Amino acid sequence: MGHLQPRVKLSFCIFIAAARVRLLHYLMATTSPLPCVRLLATGGTIAGAQTEGRGYAAATISVEALLAAVPELNSLATIEVEQVARIGSQDMDDTVWLQLAARAQAALDDPAIAGVVITHGTDTMEETAYFLNLALKSTKPVVLVGAMRPATAISPDGPMNLYNAVAVAIDPVASDRGVLVVTNDEIHFAREVSKTNTTQVGTFKSPNRGLAGLVNRGRLHFFGPTVRRHTVTSEFAPVAATELPRVDIIYAHAGLRRDLIDAAVSAGARGLVIAGVGAGNLSTGALAACADAVRSGVLVVRSSRTGGGVVERNIEINDDKHGLIVAEELNPQKARVLLMLGLGRGLDAAAIQARFMIY
Ligand code: SIN
Repeated sequence: MGHLQPRVKLSFCIFIAAARVRLLHYLMATTSPLPCVRLLATGGTIAGAQTEGRGYAAATISVEALLAAVPELNSLATIEVEQVARIGSQDMDDTVWLQLAARAQAALDDPAIAGVVITHGTDTMEETAYFLNLALKSTKPVVLVGAMRPATAISPDGPMNLYNAVAVAIDPVASDRGVLVVTNDEIHFAREVSKTNTTQVGTFKSPNRGLAGLVNRGRLHFFGPTVRRHTVTSEFAPVAATELPRVDIIYAHAGLRRDLIDAAVSAGARGLVIAGVGAGNLSTGALAACADAVRSGVLVVRSSRTGGGVVERNIEINDDKHGLIVAEELNPQKARVLLMLGLGRGLDAAAIQARFMIY
């Protein structure tokens, strides 16, 4: 190139260097291994099959069959599968939660794993998601996914939900946002999400603080961060308990008597959550039973059956006088999870009240 002008020489060298970088990127993209996801299967309608007539049975299809229905996953991630349970999520309980947390934590601690996907029935998915949100210590994405239509239905929603869940689990942008729920092209934070409809595919809503984001055929759009402590900043993570204390939920209504509250205390509940009317209210007789429960050492949290809003201290009910805790933004089923974890750590009413303001 001795005969070329210096500026032409420089342009030529820059062109060659850029071409080399492009070639390197192409080779890396085509030869580097796909990210690895650990899929923990628990059952639910996503693994359900239709039965005679209009019925269906949850948790009947193998996870391998679920994956085979979504061949597009093969170019997205390498998926390692582990069947942790095979149940309808109405049978989910703290024993399975603790097993699931242990298996998810083991996956998250494995440097080869980019993220965890958990297939789960939709009925109690929000409770499991919130439990794991407080019980797992990792910034890697953890995504719960379910379906409203069984795998053998006309137009099942599971395959696209599964594809989107894996796409979220491998994307670094989903890191450090706490546990996520992906269904119906939506991403929800574990703390906010709730099942709101018996059958519709758009059943999941996040009534107080809204969606975490959208996922459109694997393309993610996050709208903002989650607001409260979770995973790496949770004092309950990694969970080490072998069992969780009994906490019961009492559903308030017009004419609520004290009997069910007394019965729960007699049955050995260490905590009660009242799904109160309106802003966490309950009848005079039921309130007296709650005050008696507190005097006998049971912790009582007031939440609301309305499905949204905040239960604040000392507005209509004198919580200080009766020794009650308020759930703040948590719905009754999530308030139960936090109360179980707080009781499991031996925290008292004041300490648990403080936790309702930060989790
Ligand atoms: C279940 O929660 O296991 C059954 C319902 C569903 O997954 O949609």
